[in-house]
Amino acid sequence: MKHISIVDLLVSTAIHQEFIVKGWVRSFRGNRFIVINDGSTINNIQCVLDFENTDPALLKRISTGAALIIKGTLEESQGAGQRVELKISDLEVAGDADPEEVKRTILSPKRHSLETLREQAHLRVRTNTFGAIMRLRSKLSFAVHQYFNDQGFYQAHTPIITGSDAEGAGEMFRVSALDPENPPKKEDGTIDYSQDFFGKETNLTVSGQLEAETYALGLGKVYTFGPTFRAENSNTSRHLAEFWMIEPEVAFYDLDANMDLAEDFIKSVLGYVLEHCQDDLAFLEKRLIEEDSKKPQAERAAMPLRDKLKFVVDNNFKRVSYTEAIAILRNSKPNKKKKFKYLIDEWGADLQSEHERYLVEKHFECPVILFDYPADIKAFYMRLNEDGKTVRAMDILFPGIGEIVGGSQREERLDVLKEKMAALDIPEEELWWYLDTRKFGTCIHSGFGLGFERLVLFASGMTNIRDVIPYPRFPGQAEF
Ligand code: 4AD
Ligand code: MG
Repeated sequence: MKHISIVDLLVSTAIHQEFIVKGWVRSFRGNRFIVINDGSTINNIQCVLDFENTDPALLKRISTGAALIIKGTLEESQGAGQRVELKISDLEVAGDADPEEVKRTILSPKRHSLETLREQAHLRVRTNTFGAIMRLRSKLSFAVHQYFNDQGFYQAHTPIITGSDAEGAGEMFRVSALDPENPPKKEDGTIDYSQDFFGKETNLTVSGQLEAETYALGLGKVYTFGPTFRAENSNTSRHLAEFWMIEPEVAFYDLDANMDLAEDFIKSVLGYVLEHCQDDLAFLEKRLIEEDSKKPQAERAAMPLRDKLKFVVDNNFKRVSYTEAIAILRNSKPNKKKKFKYLIDEWGADLQSEHERYLVEKHFECPVILFDYPADIKAFYMRLNEDGKTVRAMDILFPGIGEIVGGSQREERLDVLKEKMAALDIPEEELWWYLDTRKFGTCIHSGFGLGFERLVLFASGMTNIRDVIPYPRFPGQAEF
């Protein structure tokens, strides 16, 4: 006889056979029905106890949150709500959970707000909602690797500690082993990082892109999928200081091929979870409908969760140039009625999330790919267009999310790249290795970055990015 996961037990047809189940008590009713969850599925198994023949001392230890190892036979259930149940022949309490202590935690059986759950992030994975989200997250992650592997990509593990600022936005967390109380100083009084661990200034990476580019120019098709860090002071429901980013990079791809890849990739991974996470998605869909019923009509989701995912999988993303988007926004109702916080009057304006969401949710009502942005509002590495003022950039905007992907065709011409870096005061010494790739067999190439948590946010129907990563990091928060 062996230990079986509840996910497998619930579909088993081995009636009267003995199994061992290990999990945590969700509820215990009438001294008889123990509901157990082991994390393998959103669904629980009901275990039936012959309490008259059970030691009362043991009975007392069966309480919500306790870890149990249960041996029993699988039987067809008499009660409504489940096909099978486990008739207990032996029960062991692996770990107690004192009901008095459980009372002050989110394990206590009542409704807790998402804020309260966040304060007990070490326990929230034992709730239905977070179990479902984290299984979905794991399956999505697997789908990402499977997609790229199937498409002939190689995974490149780019460094976490780096000396360069890939986005040039200066939003980096410093990595240093110097004594903060008494760092070595240069003659001019500034800190002497040449005496630091790496002999130079280093930070946590904001993006693996630049290193991924060097690998694309050798392996052809590569991707990175790792943690990235941004010290931006954004206290929003879309930003984290530590998030996971998926960054494919492909030699000989132009921007159109890049857009095709991004669209196909997103559709593929969402299709994967629609097929493989049905129970969790059904639960999250129901949860969202309940949440929405408390909100005014205008704030409710336009479609049930799974219909929304199917819609994305089945329909083409709308591709629109930045210039067209500006024209639409300029003539839009919220712009004319001064409802936007940032009004759009001139070409060249950076798009705020209110504009992105207007385009996606009100105007096009589908995912949108915006391309050919003004060079001035985009990073240094993007390929300059013939017009001399726009770059081959693309952002993918999603309903309820805003920007989910940012990417571009890269500037492969050494002279143009150097000029751009000079204009932005990016020292060539810092990126000599990056420039080398433009000297030895340079070629057009493209890539993009997709924020993994924004994808999980979309797929789960949750509304705050802090609820789709186990331990969110944001300004003022690094607990756990
Ligand atoms: O647009 P970003 O900054 O682009 C890059 O980093 C490029 N180097 C990517 C590339 O071309 N290889 O970030 C890419 C995506 C965004 O579209 C967004 O989904 C996500 O990363 N992202 C964040 N997600 C959570 N919290 C943050 N603070 C994020 N910043 C960006
Ligand atoms: Mg971006």
